[in-house]
Amino acid sequence: MRDDTSEFPRTREPGRVFAHRGASQDAPENTLASVRLAAEQGARWIEFDVSLLGDGTPVMHHDATLDRCTDGTGPLTGITVADVAGLDAGSWKSPVYAGEPLPTLAEVLDLIEELGLSANLEMKPHDGQRGALSHAVKTALDARPWTLERIVTSSFDLDELARFRGMCPDAPVAALYVDPPADWRRVLSGLRASALHLHYAQIRESLLIEAATHGFDVRVYTINDPEVIAPFRDQGLTSVITDHPPLFLEHEDWRSWTGS
Ligand code: G3P
Ligand code: MG
Repeated sequence: MRDDTSEFPRTREPGRVFAHRGASQDAPENTLASVRLAAEQGARWIEFDVSLLGDGTPVMHHDATLDRCTDGTGPLTGITVADVAGLDAGSWKSPVYAGEPLPTLAEVLDLIEELGLSANLEMKPHDGQRGALSHAVKTALDARPWTLERIVTSSFDLDELARFRGMCPDAPVAALYVDPPADWRRVLSGLRASALHLHYAQIRESLLIEAATHGFDVRVYTINDPEVIAPFRDQGLTSVITDHPPLFLEHEDWRSWTGS
């Protein structure tokens, strides 16, 4: 097998703490409130999900339906951006967040820029949305040149990620897996991806050594117990994606790793 990774020398990132769906332990996930709270907690990086409405508007939302995280019901494809104004995406979490809106991608990108944050945008193509989602994300990012430095796009759907890469040759990209296959480096090289995202329970020293040797960043999700991955902190783990950033940012053992 040809070693394509030699074509992509990289400087790996320092330890980073991503707020998963924003500060989703305490604020309703994937809302502007969860982004603001993450920033207040000291996070500089946010992970958030992007799905499409029926009219093709990209929104900050994890599921294919409205039911779990709003007061609406049914598929996202059943509504348009005009319908979003009537939705409450906060009350399900706490009355404190009653009336919190379901944000469009444009709104969350504008807030990220305003707060000086960076982010991992995870594309969630639900049924029949492949192609349309990556195109909508490309359009939103193209309108904001700063995103080339501060937004890394990922997806479990590697075909959709490849479509995005084809349209956005210079955008940072990360391949997202639960458990990466043995040939993960070949996949990342094909995508010209700079990072591997995987479930924290699948992390292993051999993978970290391989990633460090070839200059790939390794980010694990969704880790809410620092002790579980402490053995990997000094073995080349470059980022954690957590529902509660202070777990790492305020943890004595992780201070030098995060540079905080
Ligand atoms: O991007 C990492 C993580 O968010 C992937 O899982 O289901 O929380 O989007 P999920
Ligand atoms: Mg996600």
